[in-house]
Amino acid sequence: MAHDDLALEYARRHSSTDSPLLREITETTHRELELPQMLSGVLDGGLLTAFVHATRARLVLEIGTFSGYSSLAMASALPPDGRIVTCEIDEARAAVARRHFDSSPLGERIELRLGPAMVTISSLEGPFDLVFIDADKTGYRDYYEAVLPKLAAHGVIVVDNTLWSGRVLDATDDSENTVALREFNDHVLADERTECVLLPVGDGMTVIWARG
Ligand SMILES: C[S@@+](CC[C@H](N)C(=O)[O-])C[C@H]1O[C@@H](n2cnc3c(N)ncnc32)[C@H](O)[C@@H]1O
Repeated sequence: MAHDDLALEYARRHSSTDSPLLREITETTHRELELPQMLSGVLDGGLLTAFVHATRARLVLEIGTFSGYSSLAMASALPPDGRIVTCEIDEARAAVARRHFDSSPLGERIELRLGPAMVTISSLEGPFDLVFIDADKTGYRDYYEAVLPKLAAHGVIVVDNTLWSGRVLDATDDSENTVALREFNDHVLADERTECVLLPVGDGMTVIWARG
C-alpha cells in the first residue's frame, strides 16, 4: 500500500464515527445499488457529524440522500428534537434509504422528500443550521443560491466533491460536471457574502459560512 493510502487507513481507524449501522449501510449499498462510490465514508461522514455537533444543529437540510449514509451519520449528533430534511430524486435509492432509516431509532429524526431538490428547497423556510450539498453537480450553484438566504446566522453549508478526483485542476477537462464544479468553486470564492475553506477530505469538501 502507498504511504498516502496507509495514512488514510490509519485516519479511518482512529476516527470514532464509524458504527455498525453505517457499516451495514455501506455493505447493503454495494450489494443493491449502482454507483456505490457515491457513498460518504468514515472521514467525510465523520466531519459532517462533527459539524452537526459543533453548530448545535436542530435543522439540517441534505441535498442528495442516496442510500442514507450521510443522513444517519448526521442524525447521530442531533438532539432528540432535531430534524434532517433530505432530498432525493430517485425512487429506488429513496426506497433503500427509507429502509435504512426505518431500521434505526435515529430514522425518526429524518424526513425524506422525494422529488427535485429545488422544489423541496422552495417549500422550506429554514433557518438551516447545516446544509449538506451532495447531489447533481450542475445544480450546485442553484442550490447554494437557494439555501444561502435560509441559512441560520451561525449556520454552515458543506459541499461535497469540490475536488472531483482532482479533475477541477485539469484545464483540458471540459466535461459538464467538471466545468460546473470549477465554476462553482470560483463563484463561492468570489462571493463577498460568505467565507469558505476547501478541505482535501474525501473528494474535497468545501465549508461555507456567512461573512462577518
Ligand atoms: C452523491 S449521492 C448522495 C450521497 C449521500 N449524501 C451520501 O453521502 O451517502 C447524490 C444523490 O443525489 C440524487 N440527486 C441527483 N439529482 C437530484 C435532484 N435534482 N434532486 C434531488 N436529488 C438528486 C441522486 O439520485 C443521488 O442519490
